[in-house]
Amino acid sequence: MASSWKKYVLWFAQEHVDFRQAEIASLLRVWNIPMNTAKNHRPENPFWVVELQGEEDARKLASRSMSLRCIFELWSHTNLLGAFHDQLNGYIKSNMASLGPLFREDRSLKVTVETYNKHFSQAEKVAKIETLHYLPVTGPVNLKTPDVHFWYIEFWGLDPMNVPEAPLDVLFGRWVADGRRDMINEISLKKRKFIGNTSMDPQLSLLMANQGLVRQGDLVLDPFVGSGSLLVAAAKFGAYVLGSDIDYMTVHGKSKPTRVNQKVREADENIYANLKQYGCEDRFVDVLISDFSRSIWNTNLMFDSIITDPPYGIREATECIEFKTQRRATCLNEGVVHYPSTSPYQFDQLYRDLMNFSARYLKLGGRLVCWFPVLRKDFTDEMLPRHKCLKLVANSEQTLTVYSARRLLTYEKVSDRVEDLDSYELAQAMVDTFRRRYMNMVQQTSGTRKERRAALRDVGREEAMRRGKTLDADGKWKFMSGRGDKADK
Ligand SMILES: C[S@@+](CC[C@H](N)C(=O)[O-])C[C@H]1O[C@@H](n2cnc3c(N)ncnc32)[C@H](O)[C@@H]1O
Repeated sequence: MASSWKKYVLWFAQEHVDFRQAEIASLLRVWNIPMNTAKNHRPENPFWVVELQGEEDARKLASRSMSLRCIFELWSHTNLLGAFHDQLNGYIKSNMASLGPLFREDRSLKVTVETYNKHFSQAEKVAKIETLHYLPVTGPVNLKTPDVHFWYIEFWGLDPMNVPEAPLDVLFGRWVADGRRDMINEISLKKRKFIGNTSMDPQLSLLMANQGLVRQGDLVLDPFVGSGSLLVAAAKFGAYVLGSDIDYMTVHGKSKPTRVNQKVREADENIYANLKQYGCEDRFVDVLISDFSRSIWNTNLMFDSIITDPPYGIREATECIEFKTQRRATCLNEGVVHYPSTSPYQFDQLYRDLMNFSARYLKLGGRLVCWFPVLRKDFTDEMLPRHKCLKLVANSEQTLTVYSARRLLTYEKVSDRVEDLDSYELAQAMVDTFRRRYMNMVQQTSGTRKERRAALRDVGREEAMRRGKTLDADGKWKFMSGRGDKADK
């Protein structure tokens, strides 16, 4: 029904820019929401104009998104300031039958001006609001809790070193819903009861749960569970969660405390306590101690998604229990505890186990979401693991250092043909351990200390600009007009 399409603006926070398209695509799948988008859309821009079939779909999308600041219904959009007012005025006049109620006497309103990548004083912003004098407003202004909230936005590009003469885009619309960035703060690691050295950042954990299409009542597994951050995110979206890890001390909160000012861990620091802290302990199934290279799972068990952050061997050890081909004579007596020796879990073997396991234990349509470390210099998509039962549906990069990045891979199970269950493949170039390739690269390209610092600064500058920050006169990177630089009416 082409006539029911309506234009909306997806307004993104300038953070983890490479993840936003994948997240929206996943959320569309969660509710089977249809969406149209222009071919010339530039994903690095914070505003994405799309067509949806109504406000309910817009609200659903926003209700789970970590990337979205908010969604608003688009009334006018142009790159020419002069044409903007004609367009907006024309839109209101021709849609007065449906828009009229928004301007009724008993409905309070607010207009917020936001300028992106260019600073305007409060007085200049108020002047911009005054150019909207033709809005047929009759209700009172309410800056705190308006019934109707309008946004007037000027987008002056992303590069603070190269601000254009005129705004690249001017947008006006009616606010519909905020994204769920509040959840990032809600499950912040700062206030979390139990954390470990490699606890996953809350925003990325929630993004991963969205990539996994986690729904109420799903069963989700993290086979490298650590302190269980990924279980927290999945449980927040209503999944029953299950984890396993080789390290008893980590999982049971017996390792050295992670917080600098904490001397000893509390007795009840554990994954269950975290779920309880966030009110989702009823979603906790269990956490088991097990080496992933030796599967312990009943073959009848099926997961809706497997969401995990495997060890790469840079910050944490990759280990698995050694397989002995020959039994050695042992001096152990009956009843004496035997601690098996471990050896490094080879990079290629770990991903082979993870993908072959996912091919077996995921439901059809279920998703494997996992991180994969890469060296930024030589990365190509051909280097990613492949499997005949698992289709790669998203692949987003998070920069880690000058040399390295990790990519969040999302695979969907598309087949359960028995003959393909072990069809994992990895490019030969990647078979060597990531750690060894990383260390080689660091040695080869390290240069002088001065050069390394300069390279690090370049990465920092790139990331700050991507996040919409500008370099202040005092040499600090700050959010300027893109955040909190608003004028209200
Ligand atoms: C990157 S950490 C996971 C961190 C976790 N996502 C969190 O938020 O705390 C990787 C985990 O894999 C575990 N691990 C390493 N080798 C393993 C193996 N062979 N089987 C199962 N777990 C293993 C480590 O003990 C570590 O806790």
